[in-house]
Amino acid sequence: MHKTLGLVLILTTVPAAAETGLLPGDAAHGKKLHAANCLACHDAGVYTRKDRRIESLAELKEQLGVCNHQLPKSLSQDEVRDVVKYLNDTYYRFK
Ligand code: HEC
Repeated sequence: MHKTLGLVLILTTVPAAAETGLLPGDAAHGKKLHAANCLACHDAGVYTRKDRRIESLAELKEQLGVCNHQLPKSLSQDEVRDVVKYLNDTYYRFK
């Protein structure tokens, strides 16, 4: 039920990305932003550890929101999008 709703939202808000199965954003830019902002509290090992908590793209975006708010200077929406793309391309690989 919840999953269906999420899919409907994705399909209606980013039709181009849904068609190609690709996330929007610039992964190379996301990588730079990640290196500069995200490694103060944890290293990239949290994305690959056995008991990692993130199980879906929606959860990844939600977690990014939480972590982003803890930065001294929060990233913009576009920057968060790029970091999500980088993390998903590199570690999570959710469809
Ligand atoms: C102020 C500290 C802090 C900063 C800065 C921070 N995080 Fe986090 N992050 C955490 C904590 C705490 C957790 C939870 C770790 C745990 O569950 O053991 C976490 C967990 C995560 C997870 C979940 C990993 C998993 O699959 O279990 C992701 C993804 C993540 N952070 C991404 C980011 C990104 C991207 C940034 C930079 C925008 C960032 N974090 C910056 C504190 C931070």
